[in-house]
Parts: sequence; C-alpha cells; structure tokens
Amino acid sequence: ADVVLLRSQLLGWYDKEKRELPWRTTAMTETDVNIRTYAVWVSEIMLQQTQVTTVKDYYNKWMKRWPTVHDLAAATLEEVNQMWAGLGYYSRGKRLHEGAQKVVSELKGQMPQTADSLLKQLPGVGRYTAAAIGSIALGQVTGAVDGNVIRVLCRLRAIGADSTSPAVTEALWDLANTLVDPERPGDFNQAMMELGARICTPKAPLCSQCPVQTHCRSYRKVNAKQEQNSKKL
Ligand code: ADE
Repeated sequence: ADVVLLRSQLLGWYDKEKRELPWRTTAMTETDVNIRTYAVWVSEIMLQQTQVTTVKDYYNKWMKRWPTVHDLAAATLEEVNQMWAGLGYYSRGKRLHEGAQKVVSELKGQMPQTADSLLKQLPGVGRYTAAAIGSIALGQVTGAVDGNVIRVLCRLRAIGADSTSPAVTEALWDLANTLVDPERPGDFNQAMMELGARICTPKAPLCSQCPVQTHCRSYRKVNAKQEQNSKKL
C-alpha cells in the first residue's frame, strides 16, 4: 500500500510540474514504435553528459534532419560530427551513427524492442540507457537508475554506504524495479529523474516541496535529530 501511495504522489507531482521536453512529446505522440525508440535513444545519448536545456535544441535539429534510423544510417560521420558540434564527447555521436548502421544492415531497420536487446545490440547503450529507452519508448516495466535516481533512492531509504559499490548498485536497481509503476513505467522513471534534478538536489534539497517527503527515511532522520536538539536547548 505504501508503494502504491508513493507512485501516485510522485506521478501526481510529475503531471503538474513536469517540464515540456521535446522527446517527451515524441514518446507520447509518436505512434510508430520504431521511430519512438529511435527518438528516445537519440535523446538519452545526448542527455548522458549534457544538460537538459542544451539538449533540447540539438534534439529538435537532429530529428528534423534525420527523422528515422534509416536517415541517420545514410548520413556520413562528418555530417554527424557537424551536427554534434558544441555537445562535447563526440564518441557519443559516432556510436549513434554506428548503431543506426547496424540496425539497418543487421536488424532489417528494426530498433531492438526490449531493454536487454538494446543493451546487447547498441554501442554506447549501457544498463541505465537501455532501461530508460525500454520504459519511456516501449512501456517496459523496469526501473532506471542514473546519478540523480541514485541520490533520490539513497535518501528515500537512508542508505549511507558507498553507492558505487556493486552490492549497493544491485540493491538500488532492485529497489527501483520494486518501486516503478507498472502502469506508467516511463513517466515514473522520468519523475524520479526530475525529482532528483529539481527537488532532491545534491546540496540543499527542497524537502518542503517534495511529493514523497512522508516516505523519506533521510527526511525523518533529520527531523528526529532536530527535535532532539531543540529539547536539549
Ligand atoms: N536525463 C536523462 N534522461 C532524461 C529524461 N528522459 N528526462 C529528463 N532528464 C533526463
């Protein structure tokens, strides 16, 4: 029951507060699953090392020039690099291009349709990116754990241990898979990312505005400490 409430509170907040981002519109309105998967793949690769506000314009320009995986496969690496200019980490663009050529030449132009096959087939697509594409574009019920989500989950469960250790990483993926809303996995994962980016920030989190405050063990701990301290005074 607790997890059901957390989902509805987080998604309620997301529905009201979410930013309008072009790849979210594509994921929602595009009916062709191959194009949807390609589009979310492009957006997630751009978002790996570049901020949301910068990615917006690049994403729009990219999708206008190469609306399908076939169009990208037919481009030259020089054209891709030109388009990428300013985004940094050019190997990301190269891998998108390589991946598109592989999809066309080896997979009959069909984008892989599960997180597992995305991970196995596409260069530059790791565990997080595969899960993000799987949930956002394909509605696959999987958690997606990136840096922001690690912070949110560690606070939610008051995990103080080194979040880069393999054991903690596995525990966080398990937790994300338990929490994810089976009805709206893509929105749930993007809500977690957005919570980490805007509310549950690294330095001074805005707990008073947090939609899942009542579920947060770190918040409870800090409050308990403050109460103890005020009694001492
Ligand atoms: N960072 C990575 N993927 C994202 C997404 N889909 N929305 C917002 N921020 C993100």
